[in-house]
Amino acid sequence: MGHMTEIDTSVPHSARIWNYWLGGKDNYPVDEAAGDAYTAVFPGIVTIARSSRSFLGRSIRYLVAETDVRQFLDVGTGLPTVDNTHEVAQCLAPESRIVYVDNDPLVLAHARALLTSTPEGVTAYEDLSLYEPEKILQAASRTLDLTRPTALILSGILGHVADYDQARDLVHRLLAGLPSGSYLSLNEGSRGTDPAYEQAQDAYNETGAVPYFLRPVDQIAAYFEGLDLVEPGLVSVPLWRPEPSDENPRPIGQHGALGRKA
Ligand SMILES: C[S@@+](CC[C@H](N)C(=O)[O-])C[C@H]1O[C@@H](n2cnc3c(N)ncnc32)[C@H](O)[C@@H]1O
Repeated sequence: MGHMTEIDTSVPHSARIWNYWLGGKDNYPVDEAAGDAYTAVFPGIVTIARSSRSFLGRSIRYLVAETDVRQFLDVGTGLPTVDNTHEVAQCLAPESRIVYVDNDPLVLAHARALLTSTPEGVTAYEDLSLYEPEKILQAASRTLDLTRPTALILSGILGHVADYDQARDLVHRLLAGLPSGSYLSLNEGSRGTDPAYEQAQDAYNETGAVPYFLRPVDQIAAYFEGLDLVEPGLVSVPLWRPEPSDENPRPIGQHGALGRKA
């Protein structure tokens, strides 16, 4: 739940199975086996993983292109992949400052690959748990000026919080530490699109891994309560401001939005 210190190769881990579906090599046989068992029931998870990352990239590009936000707090970072938060932000705004937070020891072991900042910007990694939001804010304030607008990124992490009210509370406590003009970029796995997705997720949750709960779309929407949503609001991620090259985007069981704190 909270802090993990040793790499456990006996049960699948979220960061590692996600890396497997994204085509990465930073995973173990137990992750590969669970990943394959999942895709046997619901092959669409590979598209979901890629679409989630692609939504994250588009939301960061929007922030850098359309707003003055140049600070990013990415909680539940995951293993390094292509187009990490700092690479997307610093490509357009080299002065961007990024704090990554995760509690998986393998993510910590690979964090050096996330710390390749431009000279004008900064990238930092904090080994902390989502369940300690005030500690996260305190640690982030060593790198970010939290009196200035900051983008909080929660990408595929809140489903790991079994209690929905607690998940909402964690979002609110993190946003409470950020000033007006800050943003929340969030996307999560959703229920109600495909029974095979729910079946595969239920089976994964029996593996001994930290479970991940798909949530109804209205519950994902409520994470943004009190925020002003950037158009088109909360939608299935491929439909969120697709690039001209994203031909024929179709809805999938992953919903996301970008909201601004007034
Ligand atoms: C499905 S992956 C998503 C990774 C990345 N954000 C992305 O969108 O590609 C979920 C991530 O949340 C992290 N995570 C799960 N529970 C956490 C907790 N309590 N504190 C910090 N990170 C956590 C996992 O280690 C994993 O890296």
